[in-house]
Amino acid sequence: MKLLATGAAGFIGANFVHYTMRNHPEYEVVVLDALTYAGNQESLKPVADQIEFVHGDICDAELVDRLVAECDTVVHFAAESHVDNSLHDPEPFVRTNLVGTFTILEAVRKHGARLHHISTDEVFGDLDLDGDDQFTEDTPYDPSSPYSATKAGSDLLVRAWARSFGIHATMSNCANNYGPYQHVEKFIPRQITNVFTGARPKLYGQGENVREWTHVDDHNEAVHLILSKGTPGETYLIGSGDERNNKEILELTLELLGEPADAYDHVPDRPGHDLRYSNDSTKIRTQLGWEPKYGDFRTGLQATIDWYRENEWWWGPQKAATEARYSQLGR
Ligand code: NAD
Ligand code: DAU
Repeated sequence: MKLLATGAAGFIGANFVHYTMRNHPEYEVVVLDALTYAGNQESLKPVADQIEFVHGDICDAELVDRLVAECDTVVHFAAESHVDNSLHDPEPFVRTNLVGTFTILEAVRKHGARLHHISTDEVFGDLDLDGDDQFTEDTPYDPSSPYSATKAGSDLLVRAWARSFGIHATMSNCANNYGPYQHVEKFIPRQITNVFTGARPKLYGQGENVREWTHVDDHNEAVHLILSKGTPGETYLIGSGDERNNKEILELTLELLGEPADAYDHVPDRPGHDLRYSNDSTKIRTQLGWEPKYGDFRTGLQATIDWYRENEWWWGPQKAATEARYSQLGR
């Protein structure tokens, strides 16, 4: 079986390719990635001789058509993924997340390939900080940022193509991921690498916002379960159930790094900052038998810290430019 993974020089997609090589040798993998600032071909180095890498854009209809024609399955990770960037310059988000997904859908429609679309819990908006309510597969969409609005739009395109054109598509909306190969612009790697480079970690506002942290391998195991056992047309929510606020995460990171608990700066909050995300993942657990293996967040975070300690060659070249972008945003 031939599988096209878009955006797999990025964080989750690269880990997906590693996971697939380890656990699903039945797949022949082709990666399509534009190598934007967020893509890094080095993330695929350990599996480079086992896959085909195509440097190109998901908005390039001719290229996408040719690649999809040769594949049985498409797993669509490619996106502009960072909320702060979308607040600064939304244009690439509209282009890649909407036009790019449209381009993939048209090729999938023409060639009858099977599609799994990777989405996010952010499409649902946010939940009250103090409540215990959760998002479900039926929660109405209510995105807050240009990033989540374009992801919501891409999800709706997938649903429309499934209903009106009968394409064989499934979709998943996962909570926040952590693990190796995550860009240093994101919360956890930014703080770890700030400590490693002698800069102070940065907490937005008071750090009360809550996220549900899920290890990237647990996410990718869920994607493989959907590929093998999911029902066409269905959406699955994925989340570990481990909810923590940003202050707790930062303090735990500092503790694991042997730093004082207050060795960080408060910086101005993100405009429109979503308060809390929480996915009810009962459907994928009961119907497909998914269970997160990284039940203990502390252990997963320690392993992630160790990975960044050992792989400065990977993140070092991105660090200065990332912090320069943050300085422009005042964060
Ligand atoms: P990332 O930013 O690390 O990687 C995105 C990849 O897409 C990069 O390799 C980039 O080069 C590529 N790309 C961007 N524009 C492209 C284009 N026009 N053509 C081809 N390739 C292009 O993102 P990520 O964190 O790995 O997220 C992957 C997917 O998972 C996204 O769809 C995101 O919305 C979703 N998601 C992310 C999380 C999370 O916590 N990171 C959680 C849930 C869902
Ligand atoms: O929920 C899934 C989403 O998770 C994905 O769809 C997105 O692609 C992914 O980027 C992530 O979005 P968040 O905005 O939740 O992640 P981020 O790592 O940017 O921030 C996590 C939290 O930490 C958020 O509340 C903002 C805060 N934060 C972030 C940074 C970078 C800080 O307090 N300080 C920081 O320096």
